[in-house]
Amino acid sequence: MIEMEKLVNFCKSRGFIYSGSEIYGGLANSWDYGPLGVELKNNIKAAWWKKFVTSRLDMVGIDAALIMNPKVWEASGHVATFTDPLVECKQCHERFRADQIDLTKPCGNCGTKESFTEPAAFNMMLKTWLGAKQEVAAVAYLRPETAQAMFVNFANVVRTERMRLPFGIAQSGKAFRNEITPGNFIFRQREFELMEFEYFVSPDQWEKSFGYWLGQMHEWVTECGIDQSKVHEVEIPDGDRAHYSKRTIDLEFDYPFGRKELYGLAYRGDFDLNAHAESSGKELLYTDPETNEKITPHVIEPAFGVDRTFLAVMLSAYHEEEVEGEVRIVMRLPVHLAPVKIAVLPLSKKTELSAVSLALAERLAKRWRTNHHSSQSIGKRYRREDEIGTPFCITIDFDTLGEGEVNLKDTVTVRERDSMKQDRVLIVDLEKYLEARL
Ligand code: GAP
Repeated sequence: MIEMEKLVNFCKSRGFIYSGSEIYGGLANSWDYGPLGVELKNNIKAAWWKKFVTSRLDMVGIDAALIMNPKVWEASGHVATFTDPLVECKQCHERFRADQIDLTKPCGNCGTKESFTEPAAFNMMLKTWLGAKQEVAAVAYLRPETAQAMFVNFANVVRTERMRLPFGIAQSGKAFRNEITPGNFIFRQREFELMEFEYFVSPDQWEKSFGYWLGQMHEWVTECGIDQSKVHEVEIPDGDRAHYSKRTIDLEFDYPFGRKELYGLAYRGDFDLNAHAESSGKELLYTDPETNEKITPHVIEPAFGVDRTFLAVMLSAYHEEEVEGEVRIVMRLPVHLAPVKIAVLPLSKKTELSAVSLALAERLAKRWRTNHHSSQSIGKRYRREDEIGTPFCITIDFDTLGEGEVNLKDTVTVRERDSMKQDRVLIVDLEKYLEARL
């Protein structure tokens, strides 16, 4: 697998991810997705939404406000318990997560022995103030998870969509956590993106549903092209689970910096609906349409980090191979995730070729993300497209214009990224040819 430093440099130089605020010297652990990164990220989010929301009859989505009433976070338990254990070196005042270092060893920053403070609970929610007054009454939090909006809107969704158990409410969007030790590129950030859903079931069905969603999470991993041999299920023991969870299985991935969490699957029971019902005074019950019995459904929650998906996808797709004595870098991204689907490349810069190829690129761009490049040798241009994972390169040459072999007039060469196999296709048939493959 590619080392992290190499991947970070690769992402920066190819336009996947840049350092955040780079011209000001950056901002530690902040990252900006570039032109290719945003396409890949959007494709991941679109594929997730399609698989788990729009292609299912039992799922609906919402897009809630990022800043919610602070009472939400009191009821959910985040104000009291969404903490990491923090220690500080008494000598240099560097802060660490107590569960990530050996407290019996000297400070990793200044080397002083036995200098750590006692671990204290550090709340990870990022605070802000609403309105013009920076006072306690105006404090609000940037959401640390998207989940709470699904619980808070439970009654709204049941009423307007007439949902019947079992059903799910999904959401994707930004989340914020004041991590003590962010790092490892986009693995642990203070601002990141989540895709998650709350799947409501009758209490006696939770185990069956938990198993089903675990299987679906693995299916998603495969569809993203993430190397399954590097994905492991880890049962989180009592005492280590989040405060709301009765059972959690994490899917961990073998990153170059070690085996760490990729996704989480939690059985949240009726913790959240009960907590919000009690705190708000509103009824958050489900009425069985047949029996009229009122119950509090139980919840299974599959949670997926967008950025960690991006990282695992990139790490799995990156390949180096030798072709004719040269190293070829190729991103073997699944076609539906590739940031650019097609590159149209005129064999030379001659104006007649460029005019035809530009018109073709504009035509194809209406359907698929398309590049058009006319400088450098065709070999170099193929390599550049391989590196960013473009599944198809289309070359326009003098045969296309009818200036070579007569039977090749109005045809182009289509080269496939992984096999490098080339087909000669009539321009009029291109959309049909590509539709079958993209
Ligand atoms: N609602 C459940 C929840 O938020 P979580 O395990 O705390 O669960 C879900 O987070 C997922 O979000 C993780 O599995 C991971 O993919 C991603 N994630 C968590 N913290 C992150 C961070 N600081 N930076 C990037 N991704 C993160």
